[in-house]
Amino acid sequence: MPSPLSKHWSLEPTRIFLNHGSFGACPDFVIAEQRKWQEQMESEPVRFFEDEMPMLLKKAREVLADFLSCSSEDLALVPNATTGVNTVLRSLVFSEDDEILVPDHAYQACRNAIDFVAKRWGATVVTVPIPFPIDGPQTVIDLMLNAATEKTKLVMIDTVTSPTGLRMPFEELTQLFEARGIEVLLDAAHGIGMIPLNLDELGASYVTSNCHKWLCAPKGTAFLHVRQDKQHKIQPLTISHGHTFPLGTTTRFRHEFDWTGTQDISGWCALPKVISGMEDMIEGGWDTIIQHNHHLAIEGRNLICKTLGIEAPCPDSMIACISTLQLPGEQLPFEIMHEPDPLHEILSSKYNIQVPVWSWPSPAGRYLRISAQLYNTIEQYQVLADALKYELNLE
Ligand SMILES: Cc1ncc(COP(=O)(O)O)c(C=O)c1O
Repeated sequence: MPSPLSKHWSLEPTRIFLNHGSFGACPDFVIAEQRKWQEQMESEPVRFFEDEMPMLLKKAREVLADFLSCSSEDLALVPNATTGVNTVLRSLVFSEDDEILVPDHAYQACRNAIDFVAKRWGATVVTVPIPFPIDGPQTVIDLMLNAATEKTKLVMIDTVTSPTGLRMPFEELTQLFEARGIEVLLDAAHGIGMIPLNLDELGASYVTSNCHKWLCAPKGTAFLHVRQDKQHKIQPLTISHGHTFPLGTTTRFRHEFDWTGTQDISGWCALPKVISGMEDMIEGGWDTIIQHNHHLAIEGRNLICKTLGIEAPCPDSMIACISTLQLPGEQLPFEIMHEPDPLHEILSSKYNIQVPVWSWPSPAGRYLRISAQLYNTIEQYQVLADALKYELNLE
């Protein structure tokens, strides 16, 4: 039942894995490539870190920059998007007059970082309610723009929202906000490998994206892109040697981000092979992967909607490779948000399906999010749909 391409992954063969969105999943060649770098690191650690590492990380940045249409000099390698978001927020200086704008669909960990920083500076967080179901991207644009004031200093936008799986009109929003002098921090945790990104054209002040999700890179690989004119304001969360290194021909941004202490850099070293290996996995390479996953997510969503007799909550244009649906039937009390939903456990243990189920306040209810990756097939969503129909007493 999984796709023929699932042979490239070591996922449990009988498991219906419909949650690539949470942590990604690495093909075997990626794991092998990372191990190769780990072995090289351990065979001569001093030579590896002192002599080889600078060129290896430079190469990783160059390959990423090529993929993202930007300069490798503007990229910093960070372990995850949470770190990327924190790096920006905790570097910036705010005042009591400043407002930080954020839609209510933001990822909670990143929202926490905004609240933490705003409290420290006495700044105000303005939360913009975005409806769900939603009629189209223009609604998001109108609501976000209406909420901006002359006090708005920063806006955090997702490329694709985590709880509601919405592809946001982030290109238009970035252009509109940056043109007004409001800095955009793009949370592209679901970004690279999921949707085409052209960072120079986009023009956001700050972009962070996980490579370990849709690029299928090893866990702990992400990047932070800082526009050149903003780099003097941003420092890594960890201050290290680069803070005082003589500048030479490089920038303080490079010095500070290129060394933040000893750590396992094998995931980043694997990035060139990850990008080329995935490109070779399917005819048409990355364009085909993105299109394939996009179409499968829509097909899977439509099939579940039809089986359960529910409407799709957003137009196809607001779907990338994940899709969230509000489940019909008896709704659980909202307090369940901080507890695991029993339906997740039933789907896992009784049907061997891995798919997230959670509650969401607006409208209050129980939600399910599917993901689509090369190893999935439409039959897997049918099994899920039939299981849901039975468990939700919709027969
Ligand atoms: C929108 C969004 N932002 C940030 C994150 C955090 O990613 P990480 O845990 O890799 O830092 C996620 C994770 O799912 C996410 O969906």
